[in-house]
Amino acid sequence: MAAQPDLPLSPPAPGRTPLGPGAAVLHGYADLAALLPEVRAIAAAAPFRHLVTPGGHTMSVAMTNCGALGWVSDRRGYRYERTDPQTGRPWPPMPAALRALAEAAAAAVGFPDFAPDACLVNRYVPGARLTMHQDRDEGDLGAPIVSVSIGLPAVFLWGGLRRADRPRRLRLESGDVVVWGGPSRLVFHGVDPLPDGDHPLTGACRFNLTFRRAA
Ligand code: SIN
Ligand code: FE2
Repeated sequence: MAAQPDLPLSPPAPGRTPLGPGAAVLHGYADLAALLPEVRAIAAAAPFRHLVTPGGHTMSVAMTNCGALGWVSDRRGYRYERTDPQTGRPWPPMPAALRALAEAAAAAVGFPDFAPDACLVNRYVPGARLTMHQDRDEGDLGAPIVSVSIGLPAVFLWGGLRRADRPRRLRLESGDVVVWGGPSRLVFHGVDPLPDGDHPLTGACRFNLTFRRAA
């Protein structure tokens, strides 16, 4: 079958697991020594908190944001906000090194124009999980999602475009970056309950940063 030049297919390459058109895991892509201090500085300005879903469930993953827009959830729904509802201040700016990492990873998977304006920072402790969902609160679904994992390994669930599609289970290690966009942008995904462990950088904890074009 002839290749379709308009689909951002990710060719197999060393250190890469293709997930589908416009989607791949880049193994060991992120320089963690530079990332962790940035995450700690973000959390000092905008503390991690457990958001409540519109259905009234408190999420097991703790969250904060950096960038012009931040993702929030409460009884009124899911949305992006310019200020942190907890502090009343703008979210901390997106550090240049984080933004550059996200842009380079997006370009490596076929999205050279990615310009993220939001970064959701997730903190998982053992037992915390993210049920299957789509990232669809962003204004620009033409832009990919770029996800960076730091600390304890997790099982990432990569499903399909229908909620009922059975997910692949992929182990994400510290430094792995997942990019999904184009025809894969609305794939359902989630994270299994985090296993116990002790990571040299983060202890009993995993951080995940997802970069988005929200506006
Ligand atoms: C997310 O879906 O927003 C986060 C995924 C992850 O923690 O790997
Ligand atoms: Fe997500």
